[in-house]
Amino acid sequence: MAERFDGHVVVVTGSATGIGEATAVRFASEGAAVACMDINVEENDATAEAVEALGADALPLACDVRSRADQEAAFEVVVERWGRIDTLVTSAGIYVGGPLAEIPAERWDDIVAVNLTGVLVSNSLAAPTMTAQGRGSIVNISSMAAKTSWPESAEYSATKSGIIGITRSAAMELGPSGVTVNAVCPGNTLTTMVKEVAEEVGERLGMTGAEWLEMRAADTAVRRLADPSEIAGVIAFLASDDARYLTGQAIEVDGGIILS
Ligand SMILES: NC(=O)c1ccc[n+]([C@@H]2O[C@H](COP(=O)([O-])OP(=O)(O)OC[C@H]3O[C@@H](n4cnc5c(N)ncnc54)[C@H](O)[C@@H]3O)[C@@H](O)[C@H]2O)c1
Repeated sequence: MAERFDGHVVVVTGSATGIGEATAVRFASEGAAVACMDINVEENDATAEAVEALGADALPLACDVRSRADQEAAFEVVVERWGRIDTLVTSAGIYVGGPLAEIPAERWDDIVAVNLTGVLVSNSLAAPTMTAQGRGSIVNISSMAAKTSWPESAEYSATKSGIIGITRSAAMELGPSGVTVNAVCPGNTLTTMVKEVAEEVGERLGMTGAEWLEMRAADTAVRRLADPSEIAGVIAFLASDDARYLTGQAIEVDGGIILS
């Protein structure tokens, strides 16, 4: 039976763990070849093995998205190997937080380099191949932190809001060439990152990480946190034929937490 992404080439940054890993596996399960780019070589190789175990082509690429040279080399290998890029998903990201008055300059520079410059460079490197094809989909992973926020999270919120700015401008620029660009804004999703955030934010609020996660789940309309596969499902929809008229959007996939 034909699969939804047969013949598609998908690039996922941040594919070693969490949402990026679930996304790589989801596309592979629907027929796509997947280039997996991450700084964590060991876990990224494991994702590529999971992709291959589904009968799909995988290309694990060691890549620090902070480095333009790394990204250029990785995208070049993808185009050499498959000659096209149908979908780009930018999931590489980090969380840091702390009081506004105590933000170290190096920490700010680093989160901007990963979450913002990294995403901008990925978009700019995928765009020429997609526009030459006359078709493509870019899905940038922002966060509900772009739309709401909480104390001591200025760095993260700023970078995740910036991703929506990149998305909207790129959608306008690339739309005439048949390329859609959207952002997904996940709510709390059960990955390594959220468990680390829970410990850190929980400690500040005088509760355990588990208690903080329970509180966050209670604030959603659906009374639970997301599984990474549920974010991957929406990403796959945005890359599908059903979403060709959907562009420039920042879609909350947050179990309704934004309503509370
Ligand atoms: N988990 C959540 O609750 C949540 C909520 C909203 C948004 N997000 C966003 O989703 C994305 C994925 O996060 P996750 O929850 O899956 O966390 P995660 O930590 O499991 O995944 C992040 C991935 O990015 C990779 N990465 C980090 N720095 C990198 C770099 N310099 N170069 C290349 N790769 C790098 C990591 O190795 C890891 O594989 C992030 O952008 C995050 O901000 C997560």
